[in-house]
Amino acid sequence: MMGEKAERGVTVESFLYENIADRMARLIRKGTYRTGEKIPSVRSFSKQMDVSISTVVKAYYHLENQGLIEARPQSGYYVRHQLSRVLPEPDVGLSVSAPTHVSVGELVMMVMRDMRNPGLVPLGVATPNPENLPADKLNRILFKVARCNNFQAISYEFPPGNERLRVQLAQRALRAGCSLTPDQFVITSGCLEAVMLSLRAVCRPGDTVAIETPIFYSLLQLIEMLDLKALEIPTHPINGISLSALRYALENNPVQACLVIPNFNNPFGSRMPEENKQELVMLLASHNIPLIENDVYGDLGFLNDRPGIAKRYDKKGLVIHCSSFSKTLAPGYRVGWVVAGQFQEAIERLKAVSNIATATLPQMAIAEFLANGGYDQYLRKIRGVYGRQTSLMAKAVEKYFPKGTRVNTPSGGFVLWVEMPVGVDSIQLYEEALRCGITIAPGTIFSASGKYNNFIRLNAAYWSKRIEQAVATVGGLANAQV
Ligand SMILES: Cc1ncc(COP(=O)(O)O)c(C=O)c1O
Repeated sequence: MMGEKAERGVTVESFLYENIADRMARLIRKGTYRTGEKIPSVRSFSKQMDVSISTVVKAYYHLENQGLIEARPQSGYYVRHQLSRVLPEPDVGLSVSAPTHVSVGELVMMVMRDMRNPGLVPLGVATPNPENLPADKLNRILFKVARCNNFQAISYEFPPGNERLRVQLAQRALRAGCSLTPDQFVITSGCLEAVMLSLRAVCRPGDTVAIETPIFYSLLQLIEMLDLKALEIPTHPINGISLSALRYALENNPVQACLVIPNFNNPFGSRMPEENKQELVMLLASHNIPLIENDVYGDLGFLNDRPGIAKRYDKKGLVIHCSSFSKTLAPGYRVGWVVAGQFQEAIERLKAVSNIATATLPQMAIAEFLANGGYDQYLRKIRGVYGRQTSLMAKAVEKYFPKGTRVNTPSGGFVLWVEMPVGVDSIQLYEEALRCGITIAPGTIFSASGKYNNFIRLNAAYWSKRIEQAVATVGGLANAQV
């Protein structure tokens, strides 16, 4: 039995809480406590184990970080749904093709038009379910900050943007391992604008941008709109962009920028290991190529630990870090930011010329929410929800889709990338699903060169009987094509 005396001294105590965590982990693995079940309260487990409450709190926190348990507000700790590796990972080749002009525009516009239709089941669009967002609290805060800042709230908030928000962002960057000051941030109207300003600051028409593949289609649209070429670099479903393929591509092509989503990218949900992020930054710095880092999903990892950002390894001011609150708090507020290093002045100027400023009130509301609204508590809850739902949806894909279908195991975010047997045509599937009142995102729009026709992306931010039924319907349609 572990007595209180053993708890004296830091070394002994760290040993002790790990020991307690191990015991609980074993009970979970052996099925004493099963998925979804409540585990003993901190108080009762401390009595059972004869250790202090603070030791059990530490042990439970440790298990939470490992993704084994989750805290539910005012209720206690529960065993989390484990992200089982339900199907083999999708296959990605390692070959790099030549830079290509992008022309995904029309197809994407058609898909986006359908995604906007509220009457359709939303398996296609990668937006959070508004019912899971803290809408009531945000709206109350919005009202309060408007009332308390009468004139300021209706005035321009010229670049670099709301100071209180930039202070909050600088404080939060520390959690991602990066020490930044408020004056290094420029507030933008969402992450996409941040990326667009970054591309405009570092590229000229005709230049080549190295990008991950597959990649979120709106980023391809940006590249197309700015008359740039895309050099597609294969991405591993778990570790992110292939550094060996990128190294080879840089040695054989003139590249003016590199655009990557290191944390929980869309559509893989992969998480680059920290050493890969560092190597990526160093590799690009050795060629003097700016890295545009898109971290829009960075707060949504399932393991409750905030991964680092590539910006933390930046020694030359060449990493341009972009993000927003569109996936976490309020896509409609259009509040994002960019930390642009060497390119800050250029980006501030481009922002002012493009649209003068980002709307003032949403910036104020988010600043107040970050300061006093319980953002971290909310994140803990929502990460658990997305972890559970991606796992449930992956299981549904396993059940309903054709034999040989593969789905990735995301580490964060809320989308799934599904590879169906060769021969299944995702555009045909898209049209058939639409006739059944369901939207999906066909794989081809995630590539500049027409790849991924037998892939689709599914949104797991929503989960209900109706959604499961929709997954079954799409699976049935895919089966009919095999
Ligand atoms: C990777 C990625 N970047 C950017 C965006 C858009 O962000 P925002 O709405 O903040 O412009 C999305 C939305 O789906 C996304 O998945």
